[in-house]
Amino acid sequence: MGRFDDQVAIITGGASGIGAGIAERLAREGALVALFDTNQRELLKKARSIKKEGLKVDAFVVDVTSDSQVQSAVEEVVDRHSRLDIMVNSAGVVGPSSTKILDYSADDFRRVVDVNLTGSFLMTKHAIRPMVNQEYGRILLLASIGGKEGNPGMVGYAASKSGVMGLVKAIGKEYAEMGITVNGLAPAVVATPMNADTDPEMLEYMTSKIPMNRLCSVDEVAALSCWIVSKEASFNTGFVFDISGGRATF
Ligand SMILES: NC(=O)c1ccc[n+]([C@@H]2O[C@H](COP(=O)([O-])OP(=O)(O)OC[C@H]3O[C@@H](n4cnc5c(N)ncnc54)[C@H](O)[C@@H]3O)[C@@H](O)[C@H]2O)c1
Repeated sequence: MGRFDDQVAIITGGASGIGAGIAERLAREGALVALFDTNQRELLKKARSIKKEGLKVDAFVVDVTSDSQVQSAVEEVVDRHSRLDIMVNSAGVVGPSSTKILDYSADDFRRVVDVNLTGSFLMTKHAIRPMVNQEYGRILLLASIGGKEGNPGMVGYAASKSGVMGLVKAIGKEYAEMGITVNGLAPAVVATPMNADTDPEMLEYMTSKIPMNRLCSVDEVAALSCWIVSKEASFNTGFVFDISGGRATF
């Protein structure tokens, strides 16, 4: 018996990094996983590799900033599989790094906030509807330590992730009595492709602030995330969990 047998999960950003790691673990523990991502090539590659293990997977090219794309893809998942138990929003972008506000363009700021914050809002809004009908659901939004502490040189990222934390707290309370939990997770630096383009000096600065003095692994994030979206995590909502190797102090 798997922890997620007979459950249906949507994972955005499921083609890469943290989203892919969470999707693989959920699928290995019994869930049918529907991966949403804009990167069609990586999305299909990831879906094929999950299928090859004999696990249940669907793939949808979806831009989380598009209200209509999100709505129709979520509806398609529910039409095909008759339920939705879990939604993990891992789609995200870093945007400029090592860039003070004077050099940070308004277009970059809008883009980062659109993907990270508006995407979290739209995914939660459309995923929660079938969960309300079922009176059960687990939602997990990827925030970041940068949203708690405000890494300098990444104002768009920090502001968007603080916003995600606000979403978690507000929506968690809205649905607290309906069998639905809405939580966040605030990792420090995780070894994923997202960091490939981050300025090495910035990465070094972020790692130096972690008392364990190393990057977090995708497996470590997947282990905690899967507990947060499991039935066992029944008295936690509106909370942003820490996974920062000792960096976060609140
Ligand atoms: N890696 C880290 O150090 C770290 C630390 C803290 C928080 N996070 C957060 O974790 C999440 C996942 O990060 P990751 O490291 O796995 O990144 P990643 O770059 O490996 O994966 C992100 C995925 O999101 C997809 N994506 C981007 N924009 C999208 C959009 N508009 N619609 C749909 N999909 C889109 C990308 O195609 C990619 O597959 C992000 O929200 C990130 O901010 C990451």
